[in-house]
Amino acid sequence: MTDPTSPDPAAPPDRTSERLERAGLSGDPLQIFEQWMGEAERDSRMEYPNACTLSTVDPRGMPEGRIILLKGVDARGFAFYTNYESAKARALGAHPRASLTFYWDAMGRQVRVRGPVERLPAEESDAYFESRPRESRIGAWASDQSRPLESREALERMVEGVRDRFGSGPIPRPSHWGGYLLTPIEIEFWAAGEARLHDRFLFRRPSEGAEWSVVRLNP
Ligand SMILES: Cc1cc2nc3c(=O)[nH]c(=O)nc-3n(C[C@H](O)[C@H](O)[C@H](O)COP(=O)(O)O)c2cc1C
Repeated sequence: MTDPTSPDPAAPPDRTSERLERAGLSGDPLQIFEQWMGEAERDSRMEYPNACTLSTVDPRGMPEGRIILLKGVDARGFAFYTNYESAKARALGAHPRASLTFYWDAMGRQVRVRGPVERLPAEESDAYFESRPRESRIGAWASDQSRPLESREALERMVEGVRDRFGSGPIPRPSHWGGYLLTPIEIEFWAAGEARLHDRFLFRRPSEGAEWSVVRLNP
Protein backbone atom coordinates (compact mmCIF):
# COMPACT_ATOMS: atom_id res chain seq x y z
CA MET A 1 0.00 0.00 0.00
CA THR A 2 1.29 3.45 -0.81
CA ASP A 3 1.87 5.86 2.00
CA PRO A 4 -0.50 8.81 1.40
CA THR A 5 1.86 11.14 3.24
CA SER A 6 4.86 10.49 1.01
CA PRO A 7 5.14 12.69 -2.08
CA ASP A 8 4.06 11.09 -5.37
CA PRO A 9 7.10 11.39 -7.67
CA ALA A 10 4.80 11.62 -10.72
CA ALA A 11 2.76 14.49 -9.28
CA PRO A 12 3.47 17.94 -10.73
CA PRO A 13 5.38 20.23 -8.37
CA ASP A 14 3.40 22.78 -6.39
CA ARG A 15 3.23 26.27 -7.76
CA THR A 16 6.68 27.73 -7.46
CA SER A 17 7.26 30.67 -5.26
CA GLU A 18 10.62 32.23 -5.93
CA ARG A 19 12.53 35.28 -4.84
CA LEU A 20 13.56 37.59 -7.65
CA GLU A 21 16.61 39.69 -6.96
CA ARG A 22 17.87 42.49 -9.18
CA ALA A 23 21.35 40.99 -9.17
CA GLY A 24 20.03 37.71 -10.51
CA LEU A 25 18.27 39.32 -13.49
CA SER A 26 19.86 40.20 -16.82
CA GLY A 27 19.89 43.93 -17.70
CA ASP A 28 18.07 43.03 -20.93
CA PRO A 29 14.40 42.29 -20.22
CA LEU A 30 13.91 40.63 -23.61
CA GLN A 31 16.56 38.12 -22.62
CA ILE A 32 14.75 37.48 -19.31
CA PHE A 33 11.47 37.08 -21.19
CA GLU A 34 12.98 34.53 -23.57
CA GLN A 35 14.33 32.59 -20.59
CA TRP A 36 10.95 32.66 -18.81
CA MET A 37 9.13 31.62 -22.00
CA GLY A 38 11.55 28.71 -22.42
CA GLU A 39 10.90 27.64 -18.84
CA ALA A 40 7.12 27.98 -19.37
CA GLU A 41 7.35 25.79 -22.49
CA ARG A 42 9.07 23.16 -20.39
CA ASP A 43 7.32 23.41 -17.02
CA SER A 44 3.99 25.27 -17.24
CA ARG A 45 2.01 22.16 -18.25
CA MET A 46 -0.02 24.43 -20.55
CA GLU A 47 -0.99 23.50 -24.08
CA TYR A 48 -0.30 27.10 -25.12
CA PRO A 49 2.30 28.66 -22.83
CA ASN A 50 2.60 31.39 -25.50
CA ALA A 51 -1.04 32.46 -24.94
CA CYS A 52 -1.42 35.98 -23.61
CA THR A 53 -4.01 38.70 -23.29
CA LEU A 54 -3.68 41.42 -25.92
CA SER A 55 -5.22 44.63 -24.61
CA THR A 56 -6.08 47.49 -26.92
CA VAL A 57 -8.17 50.65 -26.77
CA ASP A 58 -10.90 50.95 -29.36
CA PRO A 59 -11.72 54.08 -31.40
CA ARG A 60 -14.20 55.18 -28.67
CA GLY A 61 -11.51 54.90 -26.00
CA MET A 62 -12.91 51.64 -24.55
CA PRO A 63 -10.31 49.06 -23.48
CA GLU A 64 -10.69 45.50 -24.74
CA GLY A 65 -8.71 42.32 -24.15
CA ARG A 66 -8.59 38.96 -25.86
CA ILE A 67 -6.26 35.97 -25.88
CA ILE A 68 -3.81 35.61 -28.73
CA LEU A 69 -0.72 33.46 -29.30
CA LEU A 70 2.72 35.02 -29.27
CA LYS A 71 4.43 33.82 -32.45
CA GLY A 72 7.86 35.33 -32.07
CA VAL A 73 10.09 37.33 -29.80
CA ASP A 74 13.46 38.80 -30.71
CA ALA A 75 15.51 41.94 -30.09
CA ARG A 76 12.84 44.01 -31.93
CA GLY A 77 9.94 42.86 -29.77
CA PHE A 78 6.86 40.64 -29.75
CA ALA A 79 5.11 39.30 -32.87
CA PHE A 80 1.54 38.06 -33.24
CA TYR A 81 -0.79 37.38 -36.16
CA THR A 82 -4.40 38.23 -36.82
CA ASN A 83 -6.98 39.62 -39.23
CA TYR A 84 -6.16 43.21 -40.25
CA GLU A 85 -9.90 44.03 -40.35
CA SER A 86 -10.75 42.55 -36.94
CA ALA A 87 -11.91 44.62 -33.97
CA LYS A 88 -8.37 44.53 -32.52
CA ALA A 89 -6.93 45.77 -35.83
CA ARG A 90 -9.44 48.63 -35.90
CA ALA A 91 -8.46 49.47 -32.33
CA LEU A 92 -4.77 49.41 -33.27
CA GLY A 93 -5.54 51.64 -36.26
CA ALA A 94 -7.00 54.25 -33.90
CA HIS A 95 -4.48 53.78 -31.07
CA PRO A 96 -1.34 51.95 -32.24
CA ARG A 97 -0.27 50.89 -28.74
CA ALA A 98 -1.05 47.72 -26.82
CA SER A 99 -0.22 45.54 -23.89
CA LEU A 100 0.42 41.80 -23.63
CA THR A 101 -0.15 39.94 -20.35
CA PHE A 102 1.20 36.43 -19.80
CA TYR A 103 0.36 34.22 -16.82
CA TRP A 104 1.88 30.85 -16.06
CA ASP A 105 -0.04 29.48 -13.11
CA ALA A 106 2.22 26.53 -12.34
CA MET A 107 5.23 28.82 -12.33
CA GLY A 108 3.68 31.60 -10.24
CA ARG A 109 4.82 34.10 -12.86
CA GLN A 110 3.23 36.98 -14.73
CA VAL A 111 4.76 39.23 -17.38
CA ARG A 112 3.28 42.48 -18.66
CA VAL A 113 4.55 44.24 -21.77
CA ARG A 114 3.52 47.61 -23.21
CA GLY A 115 4.52 49.59 -26.24
CA PRO A 116 3.77 50.85 -29.72
CA VAL A 117 2.51 48.37 -32.32
CA GLU A 118 3.06 48.33 -36.07
CA ARG A 119 2.44 45.84 -38.85
CA LEU A 120 5.23 43.37 -39.58
CA PRO A 121 6.79 43.61 -43.06
CA ALA A 122 4.66 41.75 -45.65
CA GLU A 123 7.46 39.23 -46.36
CA GLU A 124 7.52 38.19 -42.72
CA SER A 125 3.75 37.69 -42.67
CA ASP A 126 4.00 35.75 -45.96
CA ALA A 127 6.62 33.43 -44.49
CA TYR A 128 4.60 32.78 -41.33
CA PHE A 129 1.35 32.26 -43.29
CA GLU A 130 3.16 29.76 -45.51
CA SER A 131 4.18 27.77 -42.41
CA ARG A 132 0.59 27.38 -41.17
CA PRO A 133 -1.46 24.22 -41.75
CA ARG A 134 -3.59 24.34 -44.92
CA GLU A 135 -6.84 24.35 -42.90
CA SER A 136 -5.71 27.43 -40.97
CA ARG A 137 -4.82 29.18 -44.23
CA ILE A 138 -8.29 28.38 -45.58
CA GLY A 139 -9.83 29.71 -42.37
CA ALA A 140 -7.97 33.00 -42.72
CA TRP A 141 -9.65 33.50 -46.12
CA ALA A 142 -13.07 32.34 -44.96
CA SER A 143 -13.48 34.26 -41.70
CA ASP A 144 -14.52 37.90 -41.65
CA GLN A 145 -13.15 38.07 -38.10
CA SER A 146 -15.13 40.09 -35.54
CA ARG A 147 -17.99 40.88 -37.99
CA PRO A 148 -21.52 39.49 -37.45
CA LEU A 149 -22.09 36.02 -38.89
CA GLU A 150 -25.55 34.88 -39.97
CA SER A 151 -25.06 31.21 -39.07
CA ARG A 152 -22.49 28.44 -38.66
CA GLU A 153 -23.66 27.13 -42.07
CA ALA A 154 -22.78 30.45 -43.69
CA LEU A 155 -19.21 30.10 -42.37
CA GLU A 156 -19.00 26.51 -43.60
CA ARG A 157 -20.19 27.65 -47.06
CA MET A 158 -17.43 30.26 -47.06
CA VAL A 159 -14.88 27.57 -46.21
CA GLU A 160 -16.17 25.37 -49.08
CA GLY A 161 -15.99 28.36 -51.42
CA VAL A 162 -12.34 28.95 -50.47
CA ARG A 163 -11.53 25.23 -50.96
CA ASP A 164 -13.10 25.31 -54.46
CA ARG A 165 -11.29 28.49 -55.35
CA PHE A 166 -7.80 27.22 -54.50
CA GLY A 167 -8.31 23.50 -55.24
CA SER A 168 -5.05 21.72 -54.51
CA GLY A 169 -2.97 24.76 -55.52
CA PRO A 170 -1.07 27.12 -53.26
CA ILE A 171 -2.99 29.35 -50.86
CA PRO A 172 -1.44 32.82 -50.73
CA ARG A 173 -1.74 35.08 -47.70
CA PRO A 174 -4.85 37.23 -47.90
CA SER A 175 -4.00 40.94 -47.74
CA HIS A 176 -6.40 41.27 -44.78
CA TRP A 177 -4.34 38.90 -42.63
CA GLY A 178 -0.86 39.36 -41.17
CA GLY A 179 1.40 40.13 -38.29
CA TYR A 180 2.01 42.91 -35.84
CA LEU A 181 5.13 43.78 -33.89
CA LEU A 182 4.87 45.27 -30.41
CA THR A 183 8.06 47.17 -29.57
CA PRO A 184 8.33 47.09 -25.78
CA ILE A 185 8.98 50.24 -23.80
CA GLU A 186 7.88 48.60 -20.52
CA ILE A 187 8.23 44.98 -19.37
CA GLU A 188 7.26 43.93 -15.86
CA PHE A 189 8.29 40.61 -14.32
CA TRP A 190 6.15 39.37 -11.43
CA ALA A 191 6.88 36.34 -9.29
CA ALA A 192 4.49 34.99 -6.68
CA GLY A 193 5.87 35.24 -3.17
CA GLU A 194 4.82 33.84 0.17
CA ALA A 195 1.95 35.63 1.94
CA ARG A 196 1.27 37.79 -1.13
CA LEU A 197 4.70 39.40 -0.83
CA HIS A 198 5.34 39.10 -4.53
CA ASP A 199 8.46 40.33 -6.30
CA ARG A 200 7.98 42.82 -9.15
CA PHE A 201 10.57 44.40 -11.38
CA LEU A 202 9.57 46.98 -13.98
CA PHE A 203 11.96 47.65 -16.86
CA ARG A 204 11.33 50.92 -18.71
CA ARG A 205 12.95 52.88 -21.50
CA PRO A 206 11.83 56.20 -22.97
CA SER A 207 11.88 54.90 -26.54
CA GLU A 208 13.00 51.99 -28.68
CA GLY A 209 16.80 51.75 -28.69
CA ALA A 210 17.21 53.76 -25.46
CA GLU A 211 18.76 52.27 -22.31
CA TRP A 212 16.53 50.24 -20.01
CA SER A 213 16.15 51.29 -16.39
CA VAL A 214 14.70 49.01 -13.75
CA VAL A 215 12.74 49.62 -10.58
CA ARG A 216 11.41 47.22 -7.95
CA LEU A 217 7.69 47.73 -7.28
CA ASN A 218 5.61 47.02 -4.21
CA PRO A 219 3.44 43.95 -4.65
C1 LIG B 1 -5.84 30.06 -26.87
C2 LIG B 1 -6.33 31.09 -27.87
C3 LIG B 1 -5.45 31.53 -28.86
C4 LIG B 1 -5.85 32.49 -29.79
N1 LIG B 1 -4.94 32.95 -30.69
C5 LIG B 1 -5.30 33.94 -31.55
C6 LIG B 1 -4.33 34.53 -32.43
O1 LIG B 1 -3.12 34.21 -32.38
N2 LIG B 1 -4.76 35.47 -33.30
C7 LIG B 1 -6.07 35.88 -33.35
O2 LIG B 1 -6.39 36.73 -34.16
N3 LIG B 1 -6.99 35.36 -32.52
C8 LIG B 1 -6.64 34.41 -31.62
N4 LIG B 1 -7.58 33.89 -30.75
C9 LIG B 1 -8.96 34.39 -30.83
C10 LIG B 1 -9.07 35.75 -30.11
O3 LIG B 1 -9.14 35.55 -28.70
C11 LIG B 1 -10.29 36.59 -30.56
O4 LIG B 1 -11.49 35.87 -30.37
C12 LIG B 1 -10.22 37.00 -32.02
O5 LIG B 1 -8.89 37.38 -32.40
C13 LIG B 1 -11.15 38.17 -32.30
O6 LIG B 1 -10.79 39.27 -31.47
P1 LIG B 1 -11.26 40.76 -31.80
O7 LIG B 1 -12.72 40.67 -32.23
O8 LIG B 1 -11.09 41.52 -30.54
O9 LIG B 1 -10.39 41.30 -32.91
C14 LIG B 1 -7.20 32.96 -29.77
C15 LIG B 1 -8.06 32.52 -28.78
C16 LIG B 1 -7.63 31.62 -27.83
C17 LIG B 1 -8.60 31.20 -26.73
